[in-house]
Amino acid sequence: MKPIRKAIFPVAGLGTRFLPATKAMPKEMLTVVDRPLIQHVVDEAREAGIEHMIFVTGRNKGVIEDHFDKQYELEATLKERNKTTELELLAADTPAAGMTSFTRQQQPLGLGHAVWCARDIVGNEPFAVVLPDVLVLNEPGCLKQMVEAYSKQKDKANIIAVEEVPMDRVHMYGIVGVGKEAGPSMPITRMVEKPKREDAPSNLSITGRYILQPEIFDILENQQTGAGGEIQLTDAMITLSKSQPFYAVKFEGRSYDCGSKLGFLTANVAYALNRKDIAGELRAELQQLLG
Ligand code: UTP
Repeated sequence: MKPIRKAIFPVAGLGTRFLPATKAMPKEMLTVVDRPLIQHVVDEAREAGIEHMIFVTGRNKGVIEDHFDKQYELEATLKERNKTTELELLAADTPAAGMTSFTRQQQPLGLGHAVWCARDIVGNEPFAVVLPDVLVLNEPGCLKQMVEAYSKQKDKANIIAVEEVPMDRVHMYGIVGVGKEAGPSMPITRMVEKPKREDAPSNLSITGRYILQPEIFDILENQQTGAGGEIQLTDAMITLSKSQPFYAVKFEGRSYDCGSKLGFLTANVAYALNRKDIAGELRAELQQLLG
């Protein structure tokens, strides 16, 4: 079983639901408490043992590359001012040399297309895909739970993170049908992108984390546009599922869709309440606001 060493972070989307905030700034740099979304998911990937972070970027996304670089002037100033805690924080967050890659998706043609743009950097090995606008608050993190489930499967297994959603919202998500539970992973029998309530095989929605085999790239190469006129990763996974097993992992923890305003605001409150340094004061502020 080959280990999962590489993760793709697709960050080339337009973030239209967050305009005007995302006019000049990437959605993935919006902060939840004091860390950008993209840093939260890179932290999750590192915890899961991922070594190489691959970012699929687009126009206006250069600041993401800067975020993962050394900032010499800033570090020199912090040193002069004896700000050792901040210096240590920056050092801990900086990825190892040579372990980040940036490639471009020149046009936002869809998630499937963004993943395909990283095919050469991934090569012929299994890999993870992590959507930076989906945060999962839990220890261990969602990807670590998936890697553990993956290590218990046979070669060429694919894993998708799923969570339950209300039946009246299934039309908004990719939904999977599952067979009998075998440990923490359930064999996937069906995948449908945004089904009508009456056609949905379950209420288990695909939640922004995947472990995939490299054969997906050949399928994506010829993938036609699907829902929303975009090249959909789910459509390619449906094809791959005819020749390779797919498993759903119902992860521990709650996800926050930080691509939506409500999800983003809720994530900020949840993550802040999870932080010893500010939870107490924030709770008092919230109580006052809510009367
Ligand atoms: P979303 O559909 O949630 O992001 O894609 P979006 O398109 O940026 O946002 P809205 O809907 O316009 O508000 C999930 C992730 O996939 C990336 C996005 O950057 C986001 O992190 N993505 C999406 C790409 O990299 N390329 C694409 O063509 C589409």
